[in-house]
Amino acid sequence: MSDNTLSYDVIIVGSGAAGLGLALSLPDHLEIAILSKSSMSEGSTNYAQGGISAVLDDEDSLDSHQVDTIKAGVGLCHNDIVDLVVSHGKASIDWLMANNVQFSTSKDTHSKNKLHLTKEGGHSFRRVVHANDSTGRAIQTALNDLVVSKPNIKIFEHHNVIDLVTSDDKLSGQSAIAGCYVLDTKKDVIFSMKAPCVTLATGGASKVYLYTSNPDVSTGDGIAMAWRAGCRVANMEFMQFHPTCLFHPEAKSFLISEAVRGEGGLLILPDGTRFMPNFDKRAELAPRDIVARAIDHEMKRLGIPSVFLDISHRTAKFTKSHFPMLHERCLSFGFDMTKDPLPVVPAAHYTCGGVITDKNGSTDIAGLYAIGEVAFTGLHGANRMASNSILECLVFAKQASIDIPKFLKNSARSPNIKAWDNSKVIDSDEAIVVSHNWAELRQFMWDYVGIVRTTKRLQRAKHRITLLKREIEDYYGNFHVTSDFLELRNLVTAAELIIDSALLRKESRGLHYTLDFPDLDDKNFKKDTVLKP
Ligand code: FAD
Ligand code: SIN
Repeated sequence: MSDNTLSYDVIIVGSGAAGLGLALSLPDHLEIAILSKSSMSEGSTNYAQGGISAVLDDEDSLDSHQVDTIKAGVGLCHNDIVDLVVSHGKASIDWLMANNVQFSTSKDTHSKNKLHLTKEGGHSFRRVVHANDSTGRAIQTALNDLVVSKPNIKIFEHHNVIDLVTSDDKLSGQSAIAGCYVLDTKKDVIFSMKAPCVTLATGGASKVYLYTSNPDVSTGDGIAMAWRAGCRVANMEFMQFHPTCLFHPEAKSFLISEAVRGEGGLLILPDGTRFMPNFDKRAELAPRDIVARAIDHEMKRLGIPSVFLDISHRTAKFTKSHFPMLHERCLSFGFDMTKDPLPVVPAAHYTCGGVITDKNGSTDIAGLYAIGEVAFTGLHGANRMASNSILECLVFAKQASIDIPKFLKNSARSPNIKAWDNSKVIDSDEAIVVSHNWAELRQFMWDYVGIVRTTKRLQRAKHRITLLKREIEDYYGNFHVTSDFLELRNLVTAAELIIDSALLRKESRGLHYTLDFPDLDDKNFKKDTVLKP
């Protein structure tokens, strides 16, 4: 046992838009640690393509953005939170530009130098600000550069947070955050870090599925850690599947932005027929749950491995200038999108549920905040509208940055936390258990808890989770932990929360569709699914 505990005012777990947005908005006198389990840039933020929604067009209105968000969320959005987020759209874009993020401007002579706005599913107007088709990279790079230059911020790359440490506040009886245990994955040592305030900005849990647009870090760690520490979570049944990921054995579910459909891309069957108008009058630009389900339906009906996304009717100049990164990546897989329809399939993309927070990002544990995709704020309801996610990251980073200094002023320094005890565990000779269970979990989640569900399939998945949990607990008690093992442990927890929430919702709404209850049941289920540890 060793004690080399580090101490900070604020620990931020995660270095995507949410984590970096918070770090850069907190006052400079605070000592901040940012932990990232891979390199700083490796998170969903870096891969975001389409953009960020904000009302900037003269014809558009905040009301319209709110109505569209609420419509996509099928009755479950919290109106006060929608109002908060939507009304901070312009301010968030201004903040990014002030922090050196460069967005695409219009090529049209009438509106030259104005930001170019693209369109995506569910939006009634062009309101998506973007940096060509690599918006996330533009944000991540600019914010990385600023964060590394700040003397009050210490960055820990390749540091995987294992668990949160809490203590009971004797006066209030409420649980309070004290810090966390961290695995330095390069040196393979575990140490503790303490702080009166910890913020989870760990992203989503889409790696729980076999096919996902997300990078490897999206393993639901923040949701699982908060759950183990005693926080409530909500709406985990609403896992979003993006309709169009490239179907190619080496493409690893590479995303083809919804903006391609926003700029005229059509979904077609192998014989060239369009099918989306048969499912929704908004056709290719219906919200994602509808488009993904329609594709799944057509693939199953015809027994085909993919459908196709065709933008070849636009000029090559247009496509190359709007989608330079997509054009190049698709070429590397042998597809020229200026000429060929792209084979596409749905893949897991976004976690609408998460750790319950208030409007400041504060959770059930005093001093513990959750912002970005890890959080459940009430914005997305049963289905997130495209490009509302990075906006949510930035708005809640700002909200938390205002609340955290107030919280710190009124809170005592965090108590000492116990050093990590490694004395009773040995090196594992059973690493195969981890890789086998990882593959099994992701396969049965895809097969049984995917776009179309049934109670029987959910129960089957639940049964397998129970077995996996037993093996994981056994492993955790006996062996040195590795990053792969920690991620598996968190994925199993996230999967169980998804299945339990899905079993509770005996209706179909938004992203949760079950053949046993195919209709919307507003009378009994127009409410969030809240799980308590
Ligand atoms: P992330 O950016 O995912 O960052 C998570 C961070 O947490 C990482 O640094 C990771 O290392 C760290 N972390 C996780 N667990 C641990 C741990 N245990 N210990 C230490 N660190 C940990 N949304 C939009 O609004 N517009 C778009 O155009 C858009 N396009 C997208 C395209 C793709 C391909 C993908 C995958 C997503 C897209 N999204 C888009 C969704 C959006 O990108 C994400 O929801 C958002 O970026 C999440 O940001 P975040 O800061 O919450 O998490
Ligand atoms: C995309 O570009 O299609 C992704 C947008 C999003 O997930 O919000």
